[in-house]
Amino acid sequence: MKILKASLGVVAVLAFASPSGATEIKALINEQGCFACHSLDQKMVGPSFKMVADRYRGQKDAADMLAKKIISGGNGHWDKITGGIMMPPHPGMSMEQAKKVADWVLATK
Ligand code: HEC
Repeated sequence: MKILKASLGVVAVLAFASPSGATEIKALINEQGCFACHSLDQKMVGPSFKMVADRYRGQKDAADMLAKKIISGGNGHWDKITGGIMMPPHPGMSMEQAKKVADWVLATK
C-alpha cells in the first residue's frame, strides 16, 4: 500500500510539472491528425512546423491568422514546397484551441 501511494504521488508531481499544458496541446495535435501531413522539422505533405515558425516569427497577428487557417483550411502560401496541395479544414476545433496550437507551432525551434 505504501508503494502504491508513493507512485501516485510521483504521477501527481509529473502532471503538475508539465509546463503550460504543452502535453495537452500535443495530444490535441495528435488527435486532429496534423502529424499525418506535418512534422516538426521535415517537410511532409505540408511545411514542417519549424518552417512555419521561421516564416512568421515576430509577425504580429500570426497566431490569429494561422488559427483561422487551421480551422478553415486554405492554400497558396506554400505552393513551392507542396506543389499546390491544400490544407484541409478542421471545423471541429474551437478558435481557442486553434490559437493554442498556432502559438505552439510558432514556438517550434
Ligand atoms: C492533409 C494534409 C494536412 C493536414 C491533415 C494538416 N495540414 Fe496543415 N498544411 C497542409 C498543407 C498542404 C499546407 C500548406 C498550405 C498552403 O500552401 O497555404 C499546410 C499549412 C499549414 C500551416 C501554415 C499555414 C500558412 O498559411 O502558412 C499551419 C500552421 C498548419 N498547416 C497547421 C496544421 C495543423 C495544426 C493541423 C492539424 C489541426 C494541420 N495543419 C493538418 C496540409 C495538412
